[in-house]
This record gives sequence, structure tokens and C-alpha cells, in this order.
Amino acid sequence: VITILVPRRRLLVASLAASAGALTFGHRVAAQPRDVVRTPPQTLGPFYPDTPPADHDNDLTRVKGAAGTAAGEVSFVSGAVFDVGGRPLAGVRVEIWQCDANERYHHPRDRAEGRDPNFQGYGTFVTDATGGYRFRTIKPVPYPGRTPHIHYRLSGPQLAPFVTQMYIAGHPQNETDGLFRSISDRRQRDSLLAPFVRIAGTDEWTAKFDLVVAARAA
Ligand SMILES: [Fe+2]
Repeated sequence: VITILVPRRRLLVASLAASAGALTFGHRVAAQPRDVVRTPPQTLGPFYPDTPPADHDNDLTRVKGAAGTAAGEVSFVSGAVFDVGGRPLAGVRVEIWQCDANERYHHPRDRAEGRDPNFQGYGTFVTDATGGYRFRTIKPVPYPGRTPHIHYRLSGPQLAPFVTQMYIAGHPQNETDGLFRSISDRRQRDSLLAPFVRIAGTDEWTAKFDLVVAARAA
């Protein structure tokens, strides 16, 4: 899609410039980052909730009504959502879901035995004025046949629902993961990698993951 987008924009700008004068539109051309990498879509997978859990806030490490906290390594996952022009997208609903530390998705189609009752499994957050979102969750673990990943779904008035997956930068299983490797464009593939950085003096992690998506014209 990117390879089409750039030439089309150039054509549009060229035709507008010819009819209305280049100066009028010159600033718009400058505002478009030339090397923007659009976040590639990925499959929804079988474990997107049929019905969201009652507790679906942005802290997946605690479940309302449960006594404990989630097993696994606490991770603060945050980032922002941008359009292809680099503009932050506010008011976008960000949904994430992932398996628990025991490799169970909290979904009727996955195994119930061994499920961590203290992991929420799914959470939502609506982006703020800077396009920002944040979750407290656990560092993703491998699921049978898959490298560690977190599923993302974005939706809102500015965009068609967008689904992808985020991966841990440098995780050795990425290189043998069929879904990750299915993205042929190297830069797009790498854009799904989030570095997990240890918070000094703790056993917790931070990870930053930005998304760049096509937005509808305002
Ligand atoms: Fe998955």
C-alpha cells in the first residue's frame, strides 16, 4: 500500500500545484515524512474476545474481585498512534490481548486448566490528545507454536478497525515465527518490534510501541 500511496500523493500534489500554485501546497508536502513506515496488519487470531471481560481496563495485572496479581513479569507497555502524516490520533480505542504466564488465552477456545485467574487477558485504553496509550500487563511469553506477542486492535471514527501484533525486539523465536516472518518488507516487519527495557532496580519492564495507520480524512 505504501508504494502506491507515495506516488499517488506526489501526483495529487503535482496536479494541485499546477492548478492552484505550488506555494499553496508546499507546506503540506514538507509535513509528510518521506520515510514513514506504516504498521503492517496481522491476523486477528482465534482468541479475540467474543465478549470482553467485565474488567477490561488498562491494568491487566489485576482483575477486579480477584485476590492476587498476575503471574509473570510486570511490563509497562505504552506508545502512541499516528496517521501516515505523523499526526497523533486522539480518541482511538486501543484493545490488547495476550496469553497469561501459563500460556493460556482467557477464551473459551483455549484450555481452561492452568489458567491464571489473576490475569485479565484483555484490556482497553482510549488514546489521549497526544495519541498516547498505556497498559500495565505482563511481558509476553511464548505460546505453543508462536513467539511472544501482544495482539492489538485499533478502532475509532478516524480509521477502519486495524489489527496487528507486537513482538519483543531481539527475541530469538521471532526468526522462526511464521506470522512474524510473513511480513516480507523488512522495515515493516521491524516496526512490530518493541524493545523491552528493564526498570533499574526492579524486576519490571517498560516497552514502547507506536503505531502508524491510515486515517480517514477529517
Ligand atoms: Fe496470539
